[in-house]
Amino acid sequence: MTVSDHRAAVLAGLGTCLPRPVVSNADLALAVPTSDEWIRSRTGIAARRRLPPTADVHDLALAAAANALAATDGEPVDALVLATSTPKRPLPGGAPEIAHRLGLGPVPAFDLQAMCSGFVYALATATGLISGGVARRVLVVAAEAYSRIVDPQDRGTAVIFGDGAGAVVLRAGAPDEPGAVLALDLGSDGSARDLIHLPGSSPYLAMEGRQVYRHAVDRLAASALAVIKDCGWTAEQVDTLVPHQANARIIEAVAQRLALPAERAVCAIAEVGNTAAASIPLALAEAVDAGALQPGHRTVLTAFGGGLTWGSAALRWPTVRSVRSEL
Ligand code: UT7
Repeated sequence: MTVSDHRAAVLAGLGTCLPRPVVSNADLALAVPTSDEWIRSRTGIAARRRLPPTADVHDLALAAAANALAATDGEPVDALVLATSTPKRPLPGGAPEIAHRLGLGPVPAFDLQAMCSGFVYALATATGLISGGVARRVLVVAAEAYSRIVDPQDRGTAVIFGDGAGAVVLRAGAPDEPGAVLALDLGSDGSARDLIHLPGSSPYLAMEGRQVYRHAVDRLAASALAVIKDCGWTAEQVDTLVPHQANARIIEAVAQRLALPAERAVCAIAEVGNTAAASIPLALAEAVDAGALQPGHRTVLTAFGGGLTWGSAALRWPTVRSVRSEL
């Protein structure tokens, strides 16, 4: 669906935060029957980050959010959306706490749970708040601490997930400005909800990796194509595809489905693993810093996650700062 002709949501700043320690494949191989060779060849992952016991997902979210604000001209934001599927606590949501700790005042602030699609769902929600006239400037934060729900003994999940956070500021602007969100596509399929879930009987995430893999390739490619079509672009006109960083082989397969040269699909998974909702903003920051994402690029973000959920957004990349930190 194309976005309002009147008041667009324009990307104005990008921030990220990664925790320490760094956990290498060799570190994992000490705990579970796996190997650096298997993990690299099957997932493209060399390392991932883990929150230290002294910190929580809100600390990560706060740092990424503060970095996104620092990347802008400092105008106050008037709403905050926090995408996370690994909240610090079931109730209340974390967004009001983050807004309070940032000193944003009594702005609307709420959590959104769409697993690995959370950033794109939050981006769509923020776009709706702006184009509907509810807010002028929205802070979208995606923060995850999968280390808190992954069984360290389960090699099917322990090797891929990592912790991290990313945030963007969206501001009201004109649809023809670089950075304006041009098209959005969101979807879900609850019939496959058990493919990635927290079983009541266990505190740990359960995932049917192979089946999830197949759904991921299908949904990411179809959703990306939906926004490409809505923009009136062709797939070959896309300069940069930023897919959810679930597995390097999924990213390659999606690029192939779109007949895009592999180098146009951002793969920034090697040093951080799959950071769920945080993966797209973290990949954006990597791509900006590496010069792979340039102002004017026709850019497509595409996400997929448990639920099942999926979603995509299209924009022309703006001139935007990216501020990073570590926790
Ligand atoms: O972000 C949300 C969505 N999540 C995803 O998109 C994840 C999607 N799934 C995946 O990325 C992949 O399915 C995994 C990385 C989780 C697993 O890779 P795979 O290539 O699908 O492996 P598999 O589960 O089909 O297992 C192949 C073999 C099996 O051995 P046998 O039965 O062929 O002897 C597994 O037991 O690899 C074995 N295996 C491992 N071996 C070493 C599975 N995990 C590991 C491991 N180390 N970590």
